[in-house]
Amino acid sequence: MIADRYFGIYEVLCILLLLRITRGNDELCDRRPLGSKTAPLPPDNRFFIDVVDTFGDLYIPNREYKVRLYSRDNTSTFMGFTISVREDTDVNERNPRKPKHLHPGQLIPSRDDDASKVHPKCNNTVIETDVMPKTFVEALWIAPYKGNKCVTIFAVVAVKPDVWYSFEGPLSKRVCEDRRKAEDMQPMENENCQACEEARYQVTFEGLWTFNTHPQMFPETRGLARFSDLVGASHNSYFILYKNNADASAGLKMLAEQGNTTQFEIDIQEELGTNVRTIIKATSPRTTIDRTVASFRTSPEHHLVSLSTAILPSPDWFLGVSNMELCESKGQWTKIAILNLYPMDAGTDSGQTFESPNEETSPPQPISSLPIKGVPKEQMKPMARLRFDLIRTYSTPRCTSATIAATDDQDEREPDENLPDEDSIGERPPPPTTPKSEEPVTPDPDSSEKCPMTTWEEWKPCEGQCVDGKRTGFQSRFRYNLIDGVKKHTPGSSKPNEIPHECQGEPTDDFQECEEDCVEDETEAPDVEAEALSRIWENPSRWEKK
Ligand SMILES: *[C@@H]1O[C@H](CO)[C@@H](O)[C@H](O)[C@H]1NC(C)=O
Ligand SMILES: *[C@@H]1O[C@H](CO)[C@@H](O)[C@H](O)[C@H]1NC(C)=O
Ligand SMILES: *[C@@H]1O[C@H](CO)[C@@H](O)[C@H](O)[C@H]1NC(C)=O
Repeated sequence: MIADRYFGIYEVLCILLLLRITRGNDELCDRRPLGSKTAPLPPDNRFFIDVVDTFGDLYIPNREYKVRLYSRDNTSTFMGFTISVREDTDVNERNPRKPKHLHPGQLIPSRDDDASKVHPKCNNTVIETDVMPKTFVEALWIAPYKGNKCVTIFAVVAVKPDVWYSFEGPLSKRVCEDRRKAEDMQPMENENCQACEEARYQVTFEGLWTFNTHPQMFPETRGLARFSDLVGASHNSYFILYKNNADASAGLKMLAEQGNTTQFEIDIQEELGTNVRTIIKATSPRTTIDRTVASFRTSPEHHLVSLSTAILPSPDWFLGVSNMELCESKGQWTKIAILNLYPMDAGTDSGQTFESPNEETSPPQPISSLPIKGVPKEQMKPMARLRFDLIRTYSTPRCTSATIAATDDQDEREPDENLPDEDSIGERPPPPTTPKSEEPVTPDPDSSEKCPMTTWEEWKPCEGQCVDGKRTGFQSRFRYNLIDGVKKHTPGSSKPNEIPHECQGEPTDDFQECEEDCVEDETEAPDVEAEALSRIWENPSRWEKK
């Protein structure tokens, strides 16, 4: 009896929702699956809907999420389904009786398969493409822009044309906006970077640390506050500069406690050419609110970037980012990314204040974020901000072969734009596919007989930002192992290593600081900025109501 009454009310609600008239369209939007005219069964626990990767049921505005509808036991099948989204409402100040509809984002069929398609009449709704029995199906939901509160994603499932379950309970998922600032969140790591091009980025570190913004987090002798040099790398997922919740390396300890980047640089250099693409080094900003700039290269393998700088003077506090992702899911290089930095504790010194004497933490504690006394987490202000700007991309043979495959042996080939790395530091020139010359090369008399090496090449140009007519930065030079008088490149991970094990320790690269006069080039950066801005503006407008 009670169950019947419940179901009666339920059904009415259901039908009301299902038969919502589409705005601006006279046709009815009927979300019942497979054109069924029967009433739904109350939901059972066999079928579920989930929005993948919404941690704590929070979504990040504008981000894409997979929506998965599946049977829990992997064996119950369904024939038809309807997945849809419902927005929240907000108080309408002009007319309290007519609440304002917020935006639910956009629900579209999955790009990975063709098991679903857009509903012919209902907005933001996808349905089955065929009635084959299935145990799961996916759709894509693009979350709305900021300020749209919560969204309910729901499904109805038909196991037979007249047997279908409505969207309560496990067939509804309500997700709410993650209200942390977007600039506090690192993009998700992309395990499968599909980019074919390489890219050059400029990174700008901007200090945001003053006594006024951080009264609880400033040395008593205010003039002592500064950041150390910034050090880091672009790299693949095997390289780790530091990791939250893990112990600090000797390099991080030295940086965080003393502001000395030496050990970190040695650690990074060891992986240059394999796990590391570019060593990144920028000189300490002049004040705690100044900027410092560096540039670096990324590749489809080396698409992550990690950076760190010490907060000085301090026991062992630092700022940084580990594994910042620059390769987007569709194989695009991120054009612009901004990340706020908050203080971290390296866990190696137990001092509590900027003035604390050295006090080795034993055993060391894992790296963690540093709480500021009396300041709740959500009120903490960033101490610095990183900004990554895509400067340009470089086509690689990988892009060309993709083009050739796609155009199926057409005569017109894309010219190979793979430019040499002449303008960059800390990077090994890509190994040539065919050795340029097999002519024997005379070894450097200074190298050992057992491991002959070529003489050092010329220093590469000085790499660094041109500020006020001066460029200070780093430059590199290279040499190569000789095997039977033939120059061998130290292979990256993709080529078998021909260099005898005992010779692999011989350095093949060398770095030095450099300074030179320069002329500021104003042509490049503004373009990037304009392009990036237009992209930012493009996004919200997709959502603007008509
Ligand atoms: C359909 O949804 C889109 C985006 O979600 C929205 O812009 C549009 O106004 C909706 N159309 C109708 C007819 O409701
Ligand atoms: C269901 O199947 C998927 C892949 O087909 C598998 O990954 C998953 O572990 C299975 N789940 C159960 C409960 O068997
Ligand atoms: C950093 O440490 C190294 C090794 O301990 C030392 O040689 C170097 O002088 C230090 N650099 C600075 C700037 O203190």
